[in-house]
Amino acid sequence: MERTFLMVKPDGVQRNLVGEIVSRFERKGFQLVGAKLMHVSRELAEQHYAEHKERPFFGELVSFITSSPVFAMVWEGEDVIATARKMMGTTNPAEAAPGTIRGDYGVEMSRNIIHGSDSPESAKREIALFFSEDEALTYDKAVNQWVY
Ligand code: PPS
Repeated sequence: MERTFLMVKPDGVQRNLVGEIVSRFERKGFQLVGAKLMHVSRELAEQHYAEHKERPFFGELVSFITSSPVFAMVWEGEDVIATARKMMGTTNPAEAAPGTIRGDYGVEMSRNIIHGSDSPESAKREIALFFSEDEALTYDKAVNQWVY
């Protein structure tokens, strides 16, 4: 089953959107297999955004993501990488479609609420950067009798 890395950015945490965002992915049918509220160190931020190192906004991106806690998550499900990106909406919230997370809650490019892996390679890399092996679980929801 495919896994992706999703992260509620500092603006989303500060605006109390963690529950709303988790809820959207739960209701869609995906399974939360890892989650933590954490501060991102400068070193981790620079590794995470390494591919954007030469872009003019790199410094701003690193400052922003390290400025206040984020909510890091690993989600599992069929085609979860691409579907989560659709649910997030386009990078610029001003252009994101209503019904998407960025379209419903975002206004500015530099504060676009959520990050999501864009490919299987990124997902693998980002999950390993943020989570140790024992922090991303494997479990069966149907193992207990009260879940049908
Ligand atoms: S993406 O998500 O990789 O397809 O989008 P991309 O346009 O390549 O942007 C990469 C990340 O940089 C952020 N970004 C910006 N931050 C601040 N200012 C400006 N102008 C800007 N443009 C892009 C964008 O939100 C992406 O961050 P993540 O965390 O990956 O969503």
